[in-house]
Amino acid sequence: MSNKILVTGGLGFIGSHVVVELQNEGFEVVIIDNLSNSSIDVLKGITAITKKQPIFEKLDLRDKTAVIDFFKKDQDIIGVIHFAASKAVGESVNLPLLYYENNLNTLIYILQELLNKETSNFIFSSSCTVYGQADSLPITESAPIKAAESPYGNTKQIGEEIIRDTCKVSENLKAIALRYFNPIGAHESAKIGELPIGTPQNLVPFITQTGKGLREQLFVFGDDYPTKDGTCIRDYIHVVDLAKAHVAALKRLIDGDNTDNYEVFNIGTGTGSSVLEVIKTFEEVSNQKLNYKIIDRRAGDVIAAYADTTKANKVLGWKAKLSLKDALISAWKWEKGLN
Ligand SMILES: NC(=O)c1ccc[n+]([C@@H]2O[C@H](COP(=O)([O-])OP(=O)(O)OC[C@H]3O[C@@H](n4cnc5c(N)ncnc54)[C@H](O)[C@@H]3O)[C@@H](O)[C@H]2O)c1
Repeated sequence: MSNKILVTGGLGFIGSHVVVELQNEGFEVVIIDNLSNSSIDVLKGITAITKKQPIFEKLDLRDKTAVIDFFKKDQDIIGVIHFAASKAVGESVNLPLLYYENNLNTLIYILQELLNKETSNFIFSSSCTVYGQADSLPITESAPIKAAESPYGNTKQIGEEIIRDTCKVSENLKAIALRYFNPIGAHESAKIGELPIGTPQNLVPFITQTGKGLREQLFVFGDDYPTKDGTCIRDYIHVVDLAKAHVAALKRLIDGDNTDNYEVFNIGTGTGSSVLEVIKTFEEVSNQKLNYKIIDRRAGDVIAAYADTTKANKVLGWKAKLSLKDALISAWKWEKGLN
């Protein structure tokens, strides 16, 4: 039987780490990516780690005909992990149609092809952004979905609804949405990691770039939040732990262990860290002071978000093992190795 998995967006930050874990578990991997937010060099990084070159197709998933042709050709794909999407929250506010087209059309085209199969297993990259500012912490999967703060966030909510509605009427489709908290870090080999194009939107690449001297100063958005030190709290999860959660979810579907044909899991560590704690930990691992400045709050930031991971721990048999310190060590090693 085939063990071929399609990873869309597999040259991106999270996708590339998932490809490594899939290959380590003996899966054959086909990557589709249009390189809109990644580099072809990532393929070399993956291959250097696993000693196995994944199959790569440069393809834009907005091209419906190309998607149809791909599935006609590659009929023995037994699972799809769908990462391909645009992910910059701020950009999505200015370019909503680009986000709705890229994040929703691509999803629909793939699901349409999966419905033609006898059975299909589908994993979707969702986000804790669907919870907005949750009423209580830690956040469980049954916490209410809040009105999206951005078109990007809305694409994750609508994406989940599209999958849920499709699963309701398609018994051959089994799907899991993983709601990631805040993925950070890099592979311990430093051969793959996060490659932000332009100014980083996320805290950790901003920190490591400032640490390296590529940026003069890190801005901390607000220190007057009702938290332990006034800065926002997030659940930072090492990307390698996150990657392993995908393998666990995929195996659950392939083995037929799912109890519903659409399931949702929070993927985080269960621990919240403040921005200042992350900075302090970075200073410790890099052995240097970071130049940072507290400025005004940023619109759209929630005060605190961290996961209740009980469901993923019990049902997927998966648990985050790596610490914030491990993640920052790997992110720093990766940053230092970049030209
Ligand atoms: N990084 C995070 O903080 C985070 C948090 C929650 C959810 N997510 C979701 O996880 C997924 C992966 O995120 P990431 O951080 O690895 O992003 P990324 O930008 O590094 O990876 C996405 C990849 O998809 C590719 N891509 C985009 N549009 C495509 C298209 N039309 N056709 C083919 N390829 C296309 C890009 O070139 C890129 O390589 C995304 O769906 C994102 O929304 C990310």
